[in-house]
Amino acid sequence: MRAVVPISLGAATGFLYREHSKRTNAERLSAATLETLLNAIDANDAVTGAHVRRVATYALILGEAAGLDERTLRSIERVALFHDIGKLDEALTDIFHDPKKLTPEERRAVTTHPLRGAEVLEPLSVYYPDLGKGVAAHHERWDGRGYPRGLKARRIPLQARVVSIADSFDAITHRRRYSHARSFAEATRAVADGKGTQFDPDLVDLFLSPSVLAKIEEAMREAHMPQQKRDKRRRGQIRRAPDITFRWRPRSRGSRSRDRLP
Ligand SMILES: [Fe+2]
Repeated sequence: MRAVVPISLGAATGFLYREHSKRTNAERLSAATLETLLNAIDANDAVTGAHVRRVATYALILGEAAGLDERTLRSIERVALFHDIGKLDEALTDIFHDPKKLTPEERRAVTTHPLRGAEVLEPLSVYYPDLGKGVAAHHERWDGRGYPRGLKARRIPLQARVVSIADSFDAITHRRRYSHARSFAEATRAVADGKGTQFDPDLVDLFLSPSVLAKIEEAMREAHMPQQKRDKRRRGQIRRAPDITFRWRPRSRGSRSRDRLP
């Protein structure tokens, strides 16, 4: 029979403390890695940087309205922020910023970006297994006519279904090289038209509900405010408006996170 070695309270406390600080450090490292990637997107292409932030904001509004848990919301935010990382290829960036119409060859090149993005994010798959899968699927359609794999309905990861609506909505309301910015009403009509064909019908119903549309409209207004005014407003609202970006940041005291910590 093996002897039971008594563990002192001090030793147990020390062990728990070390485990806690190891986990906190790991969380900080992963947060820093993701933020570095986001900075790289901004530095390379500020237009895409602004786009992915707006998409993350809208996707989180929709995810929260769907009652998703915090873990899923964090995952949705990551997919939203990195969904277009595959466009950072130099040739694709040129295509996106060239004010001519897309040629068939360019259009084909553009369709490579979901898988390219998943490849870029592959080293993070150990920590965030949903990230690459969500990014790869953000141009799939509910009716199975999307790309790259033609996934159908609930076979499309939830993160990608949420991001797809937010992404399309933002693409419609902001000018692209192949189209002019259209109004809020036109964008909501386009989302409604895609119900059950391009988009998850339940998510579309939720997106078009008055409370979600009101939040989206408010977020759009905030996105267009000058930076200074936006910061001031955010500081003032910090207690009643939950943070809708950077959900991956660790919550521990003493972390160097900014005031947008949830
Ligand atoms: Fe995309």
